[in-house]
Amino acid sequence: MQQKIDQYTAEINAYRPESATDLENFRIRFLGTKGLIKDLFDEFKTVSAEEKRVLGKVLNEFKKLAEEKYTFFKEELDTHVVAEQSGADLSLPGQGFATGSRHPLSLVRKEIIEIFKKLGFIVEEGPEIEDDWHNFSALNFPEEHPARDMQDTFFVKKDATNGDIALRTHTSSVQVRMMENGKPPFRAIMPGRVYRNEAISARAHCFFHQVEGLYVDENVSFADLKQTLFYFVQELFGEGTKVRFRPSYFPFTEPSAEMDISCSICGGAGCQMCKGSGWVEILGCGMVDPNVLENCGIDASKYTGFAFGMGIERITNLKYQIKDLRLFSENDIRFLKQFKSEVI
Ligand code: PHE
Repeated sequence: MQQKIDQYTAEINAYRPESATDLENFRIRFLGTKGLIKDLFDEFKTVSAEEKRVLGKVLNEFKKLAEEKYTFFKEELDTHVVAEQSGADLSLPGQGFATGSRHPLSLVRKEIIEIFKKLGFIVEEGPEIEDDWHNFSALNFPEEHPARDMQDTFFVKKDATNGDIALRTHTSSVQVRMMENGKPPFRAIMPGRVYRNEAISARAHCFFHQVEGLYVDENVSFADLKQTLFYFVQELFGEGTKVRFRPSYFPFTEPSAEMDISCSICGGAGCQMCKGSGWVEILGCGMVDPNVLENCGIDASKYTGFAFGMGIERITNLKYQIKDLRLFSENDIRFLKQFKSEVI
């Protein structure tokens, strides 16, 4: 019996129907009510109990093989018939399958994250709808600070008693959440979408994307900040890219600075992108204000930290020489398909 099954198996494995009739004959020969499988099952009843144990499994598998083969070719033939009846020309080459590509902002965000990961930074995320405390108050924004104005912030709810609810204007809010919910040291970056109430133009949009970073530990200094950002820039824009820090002001950092890099497009000679200066600003940074640490329950006499924040759009503009911010959100396929990358 085993021998017969082996022989039939070889036959079935080599089988390809030549026509619908041929396939129907195959069905009758193996699967029909008077077919070979029926015969085999009859024969099975007569073998010894010991043989049954082995042959039972073999026989069932053989039956399954015959059924699967039949169903496979039946479906193939049916599709063929439908296609032929429809008058379709089956000899025509197939239509290309268009694959998508990553959005340029996703590509650059990914690149930024990878660089900071190498320095031991983890990724933190938080909500886009924030309360006044996390977006402003904990970050040392004075009550009358202009960034709280209706001009800049999209308010979801004005509530004088419990605090306003707004669309976050920066991902510094995630830093507050992280510090409130954990214990130092903290070393994390916060990528995310942020919103500001600005008129949409080539140079401004009502939403954009940021990557902010925070490093809090004992003895963190401004030198650590400079070295971290210097390393980041060499990795992202290439070795030899120069950096310079200009004094600036943010409510949540003291001292604060803005960092420029030598223009990645003209190499510092002066061009349209850097408005002839050879330098372009890419981020804000500074030492975390002790008030912010204390607001988040961290002992500012023991811990210090640095923070920084950059717009992904700006970095992407520099990397790819994009001059109009609106392109990022219009989803024009002619724009998007230009960005192919190894980074997934
Ligand atoms: N939160 C600032 C902004 O939105 C950026 C920043 C982050 C500046 C951290 C200094 C330190 O512009």
